[in-house]
Amino acid sequence: MKIIKSIAELKGELNANKGSLGLVPTMGALHIGHQSLFKKAREDNDFLAISLFVNPSQFGPDEDFDKYPRNINKDLDILNSDNVDLVFMPDIQEMYPSGFLTNVVVDKLADVYEGLHRKGHFNGVSTVVTKLFNVFKPDRAYFGAKDAQQCAIIKRLNIDLNLGVDVIICPTVREDSGLALSSRNGYLNIDQMEAGLLISRGLFKSKELFDSGEKNIVNLCKVARNIIESNSLCQIDYLDIVNCETFDLQTDLDQNSIMIVAVRIRNIRLIDNIEIK
Ligand code: PAJ
Repeated sequence: MKIIKSIAELKGELNANKGSLGLVPTMGALHIGHQSLFKKAREDNDFLAISLFVNPSQFGPDEDFDKYPRNINKDLDILNSDNVDLVFMPDIQEMYPSGFLTNVVVDKLADVYEGLHRKGHFNGVSTVVTKLFNVFKPDRAYFGAKDAQQCAIIKRLNIDLNLGVDVIICPTVREDSGLALSSRNGYLNIDQMEAGLLISRGLFKSKELFDSGEKNIVNLCKVARNIIESNSLCQIDYLDIVNCETFDLQTDLDQNSIMIVAVRIRNIRLIDNIEIK
């Protein structure tokens, strides 16, 4: 596996490769959720590239950029064992050299839900993903459904800016308990972990009710909300059923309906979602 730190060197490597190119952007602290994307990308492409960059521009001033989990050696072991061809690990200067001024802003989609609670977050995501798409020019890029709004934004910018990448969304990988895997789960102590389990339990219960005939959006949301709020450690930031492409609130269920939720457990924020279709 080639480890590459500069864009110039990366371009040389990519030019030498003639097959189809799959890209999986990550911020490291890799877990089996990330690995499910590597596996799919490995199956679909001749050449598999991963980017590993904790992107400062997507963290707010009060967020966890400094203490975001970093474990390069463990990550490199995982990437090697997953048969990755190339890992791109730029430093901040390489991605944001002095004089950097340009940002990619996806209107409206970036301002609601996660965007409302994490000001500027999605502008950082959109900008770095656009840069990665421009540098790599991958045939396909892989993202996790767990970050539903991020997926909607990336699909939108890919279309709007004619980037021509095949954006592939992979299912959320969960613990046996149902908790969606996240690099931030490591922040949870035992009590908080127990509270966190209620998030997926609430989503699954709503989905179960939907499958057994309940089609009323207010009722479906109420059921999930009651389960999550049964533990006083869980503070819901939002819980709604929205259109997965526009993130507009839905009044009627359709093929694009997803229930999205963000929960604060003390100072740890967890997000999750489930398709309601
Ligand atoms: P990161 O949080 O490292 O996630 C990298 C990719 O892994 C994202 O597409 C994310 O949705 C996916 N992922 C995380 N947990 C998952 C799970 N439990 N199941 C399936 N996929 C999962 O998301 C980012 O990094 C950044 O915002 C990034 C896109 C790299 C831009 O900086």
